[in-house]
Amino acid sequence: MSVETLQELLVDELKDLYSAEKQITKALPKLAKATTSPELKAAFESHLQETLGQIERLDQVFDMLELPHKAKLCHGMQGVLEEGSEVLEDVEKGDLRDAALIGAAQRVEHYEMAGYGCVIEYANLLGHKDVAKLLTATLAEEKAADEKLGKIAKQVNSNAMKQAA
Ligand SMILES: [Fe+2]
Repeated sequence: MSVETLQELLVDELKDLYSAEKQITKALPKLAKATTSPELKAAFESHLQETLGQIERLDQVFDMLELPHKAKLCHGMQGVLEEGSEVLEDVEKGDLRDAALIGAAQRVEHYEMAGYGCVIEYANLLGHKDVAKLLTATLAEEKAADEKLGKIAKQVNSNAMKQAA
């Protein structure tokens, strides 16, 4: 057993999030290229910038906890992203694909929100208030990104419905 305490669980989950964020930085440019909606493209591009900042926050957290900056492959995010990339094979470029891309991207955000919610809770319990504060800033960005995607979806989904009719 390599995880025997809440502190070790926190570290394990931080490494997992580090891997997830790095995977996302590789996926977002592909999503931006795959969409025809300028608004969605801009949302993907601005979230890429945010994600780079989130990786920096995790770097700071590793420093605060005096840990090596090490990722542990996040299989969950790998799966979510793999499924997202299937959209490019399954759906022709256009509103319908954009609707599917938003669905994939919102899954990414929700997966991250769950992960950050847990580590913030552990960090607070363990007295790492400064760590919890940094990660809370990231959680707020993930939530805002999800909400922004939800708003863009309203128009995109309605366009996609017309396309199918
Ligand atoms: Fe993120």
